[in-house]
Amino acid sequence: MSAQTISSNLGVKVVNHPLAQNLLTRLRDYQTPTSEFRQKALQLSYFLVYEAAADLGSRQTGVETPIGPAMGITLSDYIILAPVLRAGLIISEAAQKLLPNARIYHVGLRRDEQTLQAIPYYSRLPEVLPVESSVFILDPMLATGGSAVAAIDLFIGLKVKTIRLVSFVAAPEGIEKVHKTFPQVKIVTASVDAQLNEHGYIVPGLGDAGDRIFGT
Ligand code: PRP
Ligand code: URA
Repeated sequence: MSAQTISSNLGVKVVNHPLAQNLLTRLRDYQTPTSEFRQKALQLSYFLVYEAAADLGSRQTGVETPIGPAMGITLSDYIILAPVLRAGLIISEAAQKLLPNARIYHVGLRRDEQTLQAIPYYSRLPEVLPVESSVFILDPMLATGGSAVAAIDLFIGLKVKTIRLVSFVAAPEGIEKVHKTFPQVKIVTASVDAQLNEHGYIVPGLGDAGDRIFGT
């Protein structure tokens, strides 16, 4: 993607590519049915993971083509995908295709709709991870930031090399919360929306991502 299709500042990379924005528009439309929503969410996930992986570690390597020797690269990071259940599973589906050697650690978090607190219900992380670990936290919605901070917190203590957060839509409140707590985390998103409403939903957002992906 070209520089014009990505805007980047203060640790937030917004993927403005027209193909990505066209997909996001279909996701925003309240009339988009579940089958199409799921398909478009998967397609958008490919673009976002591709961009989030732009600064992955690599080393030079030689390769023999049918014609002769060439130089290339091989990925050197230990890649970890951390889909936040449930909605993050759709991003994980795309990420697994692009990063087939990745390890996957699911993170179960449920947002209490009254208090808006993230309630943990599942995680099984090892006690140590390789120092060259690059973690991709996958969650389509960054709203208050409570879920993102809870997910990032699980990996911070394990002294990993980098943590990226991949989302479809981010609210300014969520970005601020993540960066206040963890300024080193890079956020890759298709949109920074206006604000949260009184129920903690992103405005305009796309509604409840989990419900729309899974048809619940
Ligand atoms: C949604 C969404 C995020 C979280 C964002 O999940 O997928 O994980 O809310 O909100 P926050 O930034 O205010 O924490 P939800 O808890 O609804 O679970 P689900 O994916 O199972 O529907
Ligand atoms: N979770 C969602 O799925 N959507 C929002 O707008 C906020 C939290």
